[in-house]
Amino acid sequence: MKDKILITGGAGFIGSHLTDELISKGYQVRILDNLSEQVHGIAGKRPDYLNPEAELQIGDVRDKAAVTEALKGVKAVFHFAAMVGVGQSMYEIRDYTEVNNIGTATLLEALIDHPVEKLIVASSMSIYGEGLYKNAEGEYKMECRRKFSSLKKHQWEMYENGEVLESVPTPETKRPNLSSIYALSKYDQERLCLITGEAYNIPTTALRFFNVYGTRQALSNPYTGVLAIFAARLLNDNPPVIFEDGKQKRDFIHVKDVARACRLAMEVPEANGEVFNIGSGNQYSIAYIAHKLARVMKKDITPEITGKYRVGDIRHCYADTAKAEKILGFKPEINFEEGLYELSEWLKDQIAIDNAHKASNELSTRGLTV
Ligand code: NAD
Ligand code: UD1
Repeated sequence: MKDKILITGGAGFIGSHLTDELISKGYQVRILDNLSEQVHGIAGKRPDYLNPEAELQIGDVRDKAAVTEALKGVKAVFHFAAMVGVGQSMYEIRDYTEVNNIGTATLLEALIDHPVEKLIVASSMSIYGEGLYKNAEGEYKMECRRKFSSLKKHQWEMYENGEVLESVPTPETKRPNLSSIYALSKYDQERLCLITGEAYNIPTTALRFFNVYGTRQALSNPYTGVLAIFAARLLNDNPPVIFEDGKQKRDFIHVKDVARACRLAMEVPEANGEVFNIGSGNQYSIAYIAHKLARVMKKDITPEITGKYRVGDIRHCYADTAKAEKILGFKPEINFEEGLYELSEWLKDQIAIDNAHKASNELSTRGLTV
């Protein structure tokens, strides 16, 4: 039997797939997860999808005693526990900071006393803010940010001297440009882990996930990723609600590819001390994915384009995947069409409470959609 691995937040979407990946390769898995109500519902019971071989310790990453208990006999840690909604982070500032930042700090203090051979932290593409852009002269633009005054006029794209800038692959070397509390907390998590790992000789790797999709994403959580929100809308015969004009683009990567990248980051020694983009390198518009999902779910429903801006959102970002390919030997294997088909098959048996209107009211009453 191989080593025991701890995954904080391992009962969630990505963590549960990583659990399957690790167990399939002979590792033992322990999960520390508080089964948060927003993700797991009010019952707070062990999710049915969770691998029966995984040991689940129900507890909070902010609780040092629980974390210390969870670290017993563990060789490596994946730190995934977090609150994950960009929009929600703009008003639940204290909760996001407590779970994401203080939770990470608590884990790190426990690790000083119980060091492990490897720590991998889930960071996010959101730390880049806008992705990398290029102007007509071929100059790269690192510090792009849209102005409120332009967004109010529905000028959604990134402009420089009246010209639209081109979105290009974003490498790990792009400077962070934090535009939401969530992004700030993910950057903090990443730096806290890398700095502490170096100081205490705990080999550490940060993985900047792009937009992850696939089965088990919490459908009734209206603050989760866009594909799960759209799926919940469609399952209830409601149109997906699209912000801006729907032409904003994201890099969607299948959760099973992400799980494999995580395992590689743990196993490849050259990953120590490094950060990696974990994306597909492809970009799709939000309107395209809304239409495509409706088609694979066989729903004749036209998405609604609101022309509204969600505060904290960026326009375009997709991954430069060269570093992960070179050092981790990681290449995504599941293309978007295959991944969507698998998702639609799983959705057939799912019941989702469509809470999207609740989330949009929360945002609009606070002036966080304009
Ligand atoms: P998820 O919400 O499905 O899983 C997060 C898990 O953490 C849940 O099971 C939840 O119960 C648990 N959790 C929350 N607060 C906790 C606490 N205080 N103590 C213990 N457990 C707690 O989210 P996910 O999509 O699987 O995300 C996993 C990680 O990946 C997160 O760190 C997230 O920021 C990061 N990430 C996700 C994406 C994405 O597209 N899904 C992209 C980039 C980064
Ligand atoms: C997502 C993840 C974040 C992760 C990041 C990394 C969630 C909640 N957010 O943020 O954890 O770190 O990817 O890649 O999982 N949109 C709509 N209608 C909706 C919901 C969203 O039009 O109902 C639009 C948004 O305005 C945005 C795009 O879809 O333009 C993507 O939104 P979202 O899925 O929340 O992803 P990110 O903000 O990119």
